[in-house]
Amino acid sequence: CTTVAALRCYLRLWQIEQRPIEPEVGLVPTMGALHSGHLALIERARQQNDFVIVSIFVNPLQFGPTEDFQKYPRQIEQDRQLCQKAGVDLIFAPTAIELGLVTATESATTAVFPPQSMTSVLCGRSRIGHFQGVATIVTKLLNLIQPTRAYFGQKDAQQLAIIRRVVADLNIPVEIVSFPTVRESSGLAKSSRNQYLTAEEKEQASVLYRSLRQAELAFQGGERSSARLIAVTKLELATVQAIEPEYIELVDPTTLMPLQQIEEVGLLALAARLGTTRLIDNIILRNR
Ligand code: PAJ
Repeated sequence: CTTVAALRCYLRLWQIEQRPIEPEVGLVPTMGALHSGHLALIERARQQNDFVIVSIFVNPLQFGPTEDFQKYPRQIEQDRQLCQKAGVDLIFAPTAIELGLVTATESATTAVFPPQSMTSVLCGRSRIGHFQGVATIVTKLLNLIQPTRAYFGQKDAQQLAIIRRVVADLNIPVEIVSFPTVRESSGLAKSSRNQYLTAEEKEQASVLYRSLRQAELAFQGGERSSARLIAVTKLELATVQAIEPEYIELVDPTTLMPLQQIEEVGLLALAARLGTTRLIDNIILRNR
């Protein structure tokens, strides 16, 4: 479906067909250029619901003026085939105009502003307006589709925490399901943006996960101090010169507030630049 009207019509007919059973609907929101990370979310949605919808929309609201909106990979035909193979029932792939986002600015629409304490930290420090854009589009999709469950990757841990908060604050009746990060064998987190990397850069980028793993090993060895866990990460990251770290932080995975030390659980998150590509990764450190 490329229009809201077609989506509504299709959902309505499908619900009527299933009567008197109330079908469970799983939504996997994406920006397309699907990879095995997306497919893992889709598979989980397939297991837990009667009907699976994948949305594909490169959301202009979440890209800054100097970011990669224009060059973001768009490959709808390949995505369609992947969805078909994965047993997806419906793809919702609207245009920006169809969603009422006529210009690529937030002022063009009513927007959702999650608490600043969550949107101005980690990636929010450099990606001004990004999480408002994400919160706004996800709220629109949840309102339009009204799924039973919606699926999000741990890869984007800040996005996940913010969406959980938006859903709670706005009383949106949906269950948010998270899924662990899917990685290449090198450890590199799968991402649509990995298409921007050369083979050599992909190899270099694997240091992100290696550095998080070093911190995890230290954590498993009993280290709980935020400063020292971050130092361990930094040290490993510094072994690849081409990597320019943007931040390495240890925060509470629910509130995203900085932690001095880990009591129960911490989210160790980082962002780094490699050439012109910005990469993120994270790991959850939890007491056993
Ligand atoms: P996109 O980057 O396409 O990601 C869609 C979903 O797939 C997100 O929930 C993301 O966390 C998850 N994902 C991406 N890479 C993953 C990986 N390696 N392992 C597991 N899950 C992974 O995130 C967005 O799109 C957008 O911000 C969106 C939520 C669609 C709003 O526009």
